[in-house]
Amino acid sequence: MRGLFIVLEGCDRAGKTTQTQLLQKFFHARDRKCELAKFPDRTTSLGITINSYLQGSQALSDQAIHLLFSANRWELIDSLESKVKNGVNLIVDRYAYSGAAFTSAKGLDIDWCKSCDKGLLKPDLVLFLDTSNKTMSKREDFGAEVYENLEFQSKVREQFHLLKDDSWKIINASGTIEEVQAEIQTHVLTLLNQDSYAPIQRNLWCGNE
Ligand code: TMP
Repeated sequence: MRGLFIVLEGCDRAGKTTQTQLLQKFFHARDRKCELAKFPDRTTSLGITINSYLQGSQALSDQAIHLLFSANRWELIDSLESKVKNGVNLIVDRYAYSGAAFTSAKGLDIDWCKSCDKGLLKPDLVLFLDTSNKTMSKREDFGAEVYENLEFQSKVREQFHLLKDDSWKIINASGTIEEVQAEIQTHVLTLLNQDSYAPIQRNLWCGNE
């Protein structure tokens, strides 16, 4: 049986990293193979350029950085797909939804933003960690990278909500770490309890979304 492809999305400092780690423990406690991935992957040569942009040391046009974020997903998708097909449950911290939400929040056309990621692997489940501005501003380190200001993040949140489709579950991320994880696990268990899964497909944004 193939693995599940689960994505956690949300604004900056929504708690995605902590929650992905806890979710991996949940899989391991059930003797299921589980690996974590994250976008941007800052370790590749494209990722190093993205990192310089995010830290403010390299200027790029809004279109150019958008394409780099997308290319960073395309350069790694074969390896992620083969893991899922070989039975590894994959939990991915940010994906194409971040790409479209962050760039369209700058004023670029959302359909253009989505088009670059059209045909990527479609996740089985997208867990959107929804946070109020007040909660976000209290989180540690807020303000360290280029997009981390409240006004921009609240635009990003609105754009995220335009991207919801049938694979999405909205999680109230303002609760405690344990409460948020419990809500996440409920959705994951529903999938885990299925006897079989439909084949994973490279059809993200190829339908009517
Ligand atoms: P991170 O903090 O999760 O490493 O993400 C880095 C920043 O990059 C975060 O502000 C979200 C933003 N981002 C985009 O603008 N486009 C993308 O495609 C991705 C994956 C992240």
